[in-house]
Amino acid sequence: MKILNFGSLNIDYVYSVEHFLRGGETLSSDRLDIFCGGKGLNQSVALKKSGIEVYHAGALGESDGAFLLDFLDETGVNLEFVRKLPMKSGHAIIQKNPEGQNCIMLYGGANQNIERSQVDAVLEHFEEGDFIVLQNEISEIGYIMEKAHEKGLRIVLNPSPMDSKIFTYPLDYVELLILNEIEAGDLLSSTIENAAKIDAEIKPKSTGLQAQGDVLIKQLSSRFRHMKILLTLGDDGSIYRDADTIIKQGIYRVDVVDTTAAGDTFTGFFIGAIAEGKSEKEALELAAKAASISVSRQGAAPSIPDKKEVLSWDF
Ligand code: RIB
Repeated sequence: MKILNFGSLNIDYVYSVEHFLRGGETLSSDRLDIFCGGKGLNQSVALKKSGIEVYHAGALGESDGAFLLDFLDETGVNLEFVRKLPMKSGHAIIQKNPEGQNCIMLYGGANQNIERSQVDAVLEHFEEGDFIVLQNEISEIGYIMEKAHEKGLRIVLNPSPMDSKIFTYPLDYVELLILNEIEAGDLLSSTIENAAKIDAEIKPKSTGLQAQGDVLIKQLSSRFRHMKILLTLGDDGSIYRDADTIIKQGIYRVDVVDTTAAGDTFTGFFIGAIAEGKSEKEALELAAKAASISVSRQGAAPSIPDKKEVLSWDF
């Protein structure tokens, strides 16, 4: 069984700021750091660091993408299916505030130039039972899902960043959906006719994200009956639900330096552990630990720990 991650590769420009920019404001930043990032790249790094082999497919710029390739190569990600294109790599302009929270603006670049011919060529190397991991930062996701489903691949979708394209994808083919509470709310309000009903259910009962999470995961499971769903809730942890089980996982407290890629670390470690045959409970615990370590460090991909470190970390 192989794992393919067809996803974005970004150069992250991280500006440390006192507060996030407001409309019309000009603000000086204290510091600029440049990191490897992109939800695709971060998740490939997390998958590999969780201890499994991963093939990354995607596209980057031939003139500015070398540093992303070098990083992935050093991490041990298989790069056979990454194309170099005569254009800029994708990048992210990230504002990071003193609390370690971020605001991200994306430029798709090569990520938005994935072609169907590349998809077909990549998928020829995979077969029934292999996993394919997808986010929403590259072009042709719907086509990739169609073709992956035809071949019997097991589709994991992290619909992030959420936008209207998600509703054009064949979501019925998804085996495991991994998303946060905001994405869950967006997905539900646009797919269930009566969005007001969801609001009515969530808002009055809200005593915190856990309460919202309980309602959201119930709604998601009833809308997407065949799917396994993993809902992340920031500081309130996560909830996993499939046909037989519901499992809740808390977070491990650390001093927060930078939250960028915490979700990607969680996603990669969870999928990696499941692919290795661990139970959902074990996978959730490992993923929560890995994500906590990542927020205690600067940057996206460079902040992701390996499994040995996760297992030996003293929380
Ligand atoms: O999830 C974090 C990532 O989102 C960053 O690395 C940035 O590139 C954006 O894709």
